[in-house]
Amino acid sequence: MSPVYRPQIHLAYHYLTDGRNLGARVELHQYFSVVRKRLWLIALLGVVGLGLSVGVLAKSPPLYQAKSSVFVSSQSGDTTAELVQGSTYTQQLVQSYAQLATAPIVLNPVILKLNLDVSARGLASEITADTPLNTVIVEITVLDRSPVRATQIANAVASSLATSAENLSPKLTNGESGIRMKVISPAAVPTSPAKPNRNLILASGLLGGLAVGVLIAIFIELLSTRVRDEEDVAKVSDAPVLGRISRNPRGLSGIVMRVARTSPTAEGYRRVRTNLAFSEVDRQMKSIVVTSPTAAIGKSTTTLNLALAMAEVGGRGLVIDADLRKPSIAQYCQMDGDVGLTSVLIGSAHLEDAVQRWGDLIDILPSGLVPPNPTKLLGSEAMATLLKRVTAEYDFVILDSPPVLPVSDALTLAHLTDGVIVVARCRVTKRRELESTLSSIENVNAGVLGVILNVAPRVKSDSYYPYARDAHQGQVMETDAAPVSSAQILVRRPPRRKTRRPSSRSRADESPVTGGDSASAELQPSSQ
Ligand SMILES: Nc1ncnc2c1ncn2[C@@H]1O[C@H](COP(=O)(O)OP(=O)(O)OP(=O)(O)O)[C@@H](O)[C@H]1O
Ligand SMILES: [Mg+2]
Repeated sequence: MSPVYRPQIHLAYHYLTDGRNLGARVELHQYFSVVRKRLWLIALLGVVGLGLSVGVLAKSPPLYQAKSSVFVSSQSGDTTAELVQGSTYTQQLVQSYAQLATAPIVLNPVILKLNLDVSARGLASEITADTPLNTVIVEITVLDRSPVRATQIANAVASSLATSAENLSPKLTNGESGIRMKVISPAAVPTSPAKPNRNLILASGLLGGLAVGVLIAIFIELLSTRVRDEEDVAKVSDAPVLGRISRNPRGLSGIVMRVARTSPTAEGYRRVRTNLAFSEVDRQMKSIVVTSPTAAIGKSTTTLNLALAMAEVGGRGLVIDADLRKPSIAQYCQMDGDVGLTSVLIGSAHLEDAVQRWGDLIDILPSGLVPPNPTKLLGSEAMATLLKRVTAEYDFVILDSPPVLPVSDALTLAHLTDGVIVVARCRVTKRRELESTLSSIENVNAGVLGVILNVAPRVKSDSYYPYARDAHQGQVMETDAAPVSSAQILVRRPPRRKTRRPSSRSRADESPVTGGDSASAELQPSSQ
């Protein structure tokens, strides 16, 4: 099969700025997307260019152009042969007469006649004299700030040229000049300036500004090392982008899926839920780890919001704060986190005692007290047993975890769960960081479910549900009246169950981390 031709441009700079993609090519459509992304900058520089050209125009005085023409003829010749000879003679001389038009011998009488305050050399700089090809016509063009003076000079030069040329030419036997010059087209007063060319200067300023804008936009793109959009993720990995989460509504604190459920940000989490269901049609996704390359990217908020989005379409979910370095789930949920995961793992508390209900839909297992050996604890047999139990009891389990690059806890958890979601913060997370995070996860043979772009600039589709500061905003929502998303038809809605806590019998019978029934629906795309 012959390769499909696609216009590509090699860009040496690209090689320098993106080590991994040595040899990569920047395709033409990528330039278009760069231009689209930085349209405001390009437009701004276009306006600056236009402003500069207006400034140049203001500093350039208008010049008026007047033109007169002189016809040169030979006086001699009665026979045809003599006339032809005379005509050839005039054609040979006409170039010299054009030169003569700017000579002092012609211009000094003009200066005297018009009483000009300029030298012959100065006046010559205003005048051009040409002879159109194969003619015996001399065209005199004058550019001057005054339209009237330009006309007077053009006419005066024409008549002075005629006089000087006739004086200079060889005389006939009867004493008359062998050359005759006649003004055939006297100059007329121009009504509009000939220079500067306003349209040309304005267009050049505008186009120049736009061109500089495009160049700067391309260089910003090439020099930027941070993740900003799906294309940046695609540059470093094949992992799908599960969604873009826009910045939380202004002035809002708390978990958006509870306090601003109709906001575009909340809708972003619902889209992630949909895409998750799409991307994992063949696998049972019961336990998911949420991590990021570095700290403070939005792991904990993503964990809670995603859990709420998943619970909206049915099923019972558990959020585990497995970030034993810097736990924050309890704080976000405004609950006491002293008894939690670590308490259960070391056997000082039963799971059912450590789990707390958050709203109607979600159970939370906070971190418990921060241990000195988080990685060891998370990789323990007790952790694996606990995860087996909770994935059997709950429809889905989401674990918050520490960032991948500084510590290996998330990789340990990735091994024990069905997949990992990596959160990248737009304009904060570097491409290299995302790349090494994803490859670390792949290196431990764990599945990357995809990347979430957090605090992503809004795109039009984010406003599908127009964000209104409705009565719910700012309050904790406990109802089921969430906006219906298309995701809901994709996810099998398990039968709604009453919240069930393991019975006291099972508590007595079982160790803190084992036991429990396994009858739970799994989050899967529906067959519809
Ligand atoms: N979409 C968003 N819009 C605005 N602010 C956000 C968004 N996502 C997260 N944040 C804010 O970023 C900060 C860090 O969020 P979060 O605690 O979820 O990050 P983290 O990755 O869990 O941090 P850590 O590594 O410290 O555990 C918080 O103040 C949170 O409110
Ligand atoms: Mg956190």
